[in-house]
Amino acid sequence: MSEHLHECCVSAMPRIGDRAPSFKAITTQGEINFPEDYAGSWVILFSHPADFTPVCTTEFITFASMMDEFAKLNCKLLGLSIDSIYGHIAWLRTIKEKIEYRGMKDVEVNFPVIEDITMEVAKKYGMLQPGESTTKAVRAVFVIDPKGVIRAIIYYPLSVGRNFDEIKRLLIALQTTDAFGVATPADWRPGDDVIVPPPGSCGVAKERVESKREDMVCYDWFFCLKKLSKEEIFDRILKK
Ligand code: BEZ
Repeated sequence: MSEHLHECCVSAMPRIGDRAPSFKAITTQGEINFPEDYAGSWVILFSHPADFTPVCTTEFITFASMMDEFAKLNCKLLGLSIDSIYGHIAWLRTIKEKIEYRGMKDVEVNFPVIEDITMEVAKKYGMLQPGESTTKAVRAVFVIDPKGVIRAIIYYPLSVGRNFDEIKRLLIALQTTDAFGVATPADWRPGDDVIVPPPGSCGVAKERVESKREDMVCYDWFFCLKKLSKEEIFDRILKK
């Protein structure tokens, strides 16, 4: 990549564990002051390459149709592209009036979509990746917790639509690991066994392999699973 390309688009990228960079922005639902206006809620801040493009249209229809499911998990959605507010409004109106995808039609996008023609927010969040495009944001997803800390990041290229079930699964997994002090294994879904964090001392390691505990199965000192029901999880994490 040339120096010029690098200068045009890239600033330091935030990382997992960092505070979400702050910004003020105009959105399709009015002005926002981020992350202050979202304190106390989980947020999925996501970028898409451009308005009036087909993959993005399928993503918006899918995400907008799941907005209530995310709201029950105390999570707000916030979209962004390097387009004007008028472009956003026109595109969202077209989606509602004309587009059907997988049986979803007449879909109203009620989450805010940020106008970012100056690229200020896209640059702050490393959404511009010049090897892919210097004018369009890649498909970035930032999962931000109620204290404004970035907890997970996903990047997809322009040509591949994201899996929104996976984004929801990731959010539930983060909320479960926070609420129960456990970790989640590969392909975990609520109701599957969870991982008990590895022991921090030789004494606990010994106890794990020697004692027969009903609530935990240990295959070795570092690999212990335990049951955690769907009901227990959703009882704790769903917004009452
Ligand atoms: C799309 O959303 O369809 C798209 C956007 C930018 C480049 C390629 C595809």
